[in-house]
Amino acid sequence: MNDVASPGRPRILQVGRLMPSLEAALAENFNLRPLWREADADAYLAAHGAEFTGLVTSLWGPVDAALLARLPKLRVIAHFGVGYDALDVAAIRARGIPFSNTPDVLTDCTADLAWAALLDVARGVSAAERFVRRGAWASGGKFPLQTRVSGKRLGILGLGRIGRAIARRGAGFGMRVAYHSRHPQAGADYAWHATPAALAAHSDFFVIAAAGGPQTRGLVSREVIAALPPQAYLVNIARGSVVDEAALVEALVEKRIAGAALDVFEHEPHVPEALLALDNVVLLPHIGSATRETRQAMADLTLANLQAFFRDGQLLTPVEA
Ligand code: DGY
Repeated sequence: MNDVASPGRPRILQVGRLMPSLEAALAENFNLRPLWREADADAYLAAHGAEFTGLVTSLWGPVDAALLARLPKLRVIAHFGVGYDALDVAAIRARGIPFSNTPDVLTDCTADLAWAALLDVARGVSAAERFVRRGAWASGGKFPLQTRVSGKRLGILGLGRIGRAIARRGAGFGMRVAYHSRHPQAGADYAWHATPAALAAHSDFFVIAAAGGPQTRGLVSREVIAALPPQAYLVNIARGSVVDEAALVEALVEKRIAGAALDVFEHEPHVPEALLALDNVVLLPHIGSATRETRQAMADLTLANLQAFFRDGQLLTPVEA
């Protein structure tokens, strides 16, 4: 890609990989430079960092203070994704740089995936499918009985947009819904528990929907995992960092809880080896928002944010922290 292409347009630095269609749309509208394609990113930034006024990134392209220091004229950051824990928010705020994420457009698909994972682990859907494929059914085997979902207790950690969408779906399954967030939420007609451990103790399904980042790191601690009843399933569609992963693996291996469905992990794409052999664990490759429709909507919103900023000086979906 040519550095001096479209000289009149704002220079946008693309830190990590993005959907090809978003990358193409950004390149049509801006003077885009994908940093991840540079053989020597440091040398490139030393020579050209001062040319960039915009930056676009996602979970897979972290932005830290060292990178910001290379971009003295940076005015705006657009983040593809709702969770922006890959951004060093303190460093960005210290520079007074506004940034956007992509809320709302991925709420339904992420909540759907939480339910797919929950139903899968409780009813043994993936395990039953493996059972059929390996010929166990055809050769006379009987798949073991699994766990009922409807009417059980659903505990949701974090009642933001996605947590609420999961709760609404729970009502459709006749579940008794409860939640924990730092404070009771206005308009939420569900039981509130003051601590994650209290919620865990009252959950048959404990679904983590809290935002990632320093404030929630390790929130689902060893103590919270120990509070889960033995029949409980843990579902995480938020961030691996929210859970003490080592403590969770121990609880699963020692069968202190019934199972887990995990779409996110502490060090993605690494999945703890001990989990691979467990049939009561559903393992997914971080696909909460990964439908064609939702990813396109996220891409459109990312582009629209940058267009709005460079046209009117305003982001459409700024993160106000
Ligand atoms: C998000 O938007 O935060 C998702 O986890 C990334 O797909």
